[in-house]
Amino acid sequence: MDIVKNIILTGGSKGLGLEIATYLLNSGYRLHVINRSMPKELEQLQKKHSDKLFVHLFDLENAAELLGFLKTKFPASEPIHGFVNNAALAYDDIVTNLNLESLEKMYRVNVFTPMILTKFVLRNMLYNKISGSIIHISSISVHTGYKGLSMYASTKGALEAFSKNTAREWGQRGIRSNALVAGFMETEMSGTLSDDQRNRIFNRTSLKKPTSKESVAAMVEFLLNEKAASVTGQNIFVDNGTI
Ligand SMILES: NC(=O)c1ccc[n+]([C@@H]2O[C@H](COP(=O)([O-])OP(=O)(O)OC[C@H]3O[C@@H](n4cnc5c(N)ncnc54)[C@H](OP(=O)(O)O)[C@@H]3O)[C@@H](O)[C@H]2O)c1
Repeated sequence: MDIVKNIILTGGSKGLGLEIATYLLNSGYRLHVINRSMPKELEQLQKKHSDKLFVHLFDLENAAELLGFLKTKFPASEPIHGFVNNAALAYDDIVTNLNLESLEKMYRVNVFTPMILTKFVLRNMLYNKISGSIIHISSISVHTGYKGLSMYASTKGALEAFSKNTAREWGQRGIRSNALVAGFMETEMSGTLSDDQRNRIFNRTSLKKPTSKESVAAMVEFLLNEKAASVTGQNIFVDNGTI
């Protein structure tokens, strides 16, 4: 990499986000992570990369205050080269049990604040004339369907549409946007599933196992990189070949 690149990553405190953070730091990026908590794994990572990892504690449910928060943390003169929208919550239940409050909360975290962050990042990239890269972490549930995930999957479907159209809107300025469609991974989010549910999910994949977080993180790094200069407006599947 010629210059150190600044990346914003949401949800870097655990699960896939922590894996992506570790991968990007080892690849030489300067990373700003936004999440609510500071678990010891993230603390250790920060100690190891004290000059390259910056942790910003913020609740991404708080859509109304997000722009104000971002302006205090990221001056326009500091270029942002990439944005990885990873933070999300899964409110899973069957549709007949739909609860509006839970649904609205999930949409704020999974859809509205990522859109506001995209607005902020795009403006920074345009101001600094950066051919940046935006990556939204989506889910295979959008494409296959799972009982109990219709509401969650709808938030990821919204992101996929948003990503494709952002790519179309800003491609002329060299800015790329892609959705990375991840298969089921072993994280806290999937931790509530029973062994039976997990086995049924993994049996729907060609490789018959959980998707590797490292494989997803490596794809994120590729999409951020100039090597992916011609890849935009796509849904990239890293899902063990789910059917
Ligand atoms: N796990 C899977 O099987 C799977 C499959 C496909 C796609 N995905 C997607 O992959 C991404 C990562 O999921 P994961 O499995 O790693 O989930 P996870 O282990 O539950 O981690 C979620 C991350 O999001 C952050 N987050 C959640 N709510 C937040 C809020 N209100 N404000 C700020 N940060 C918040 C959490 O940080 P704090 O708690 O510190 O705030 C945490 O770092 C998500 O987009 C998910 O939809 C997951």
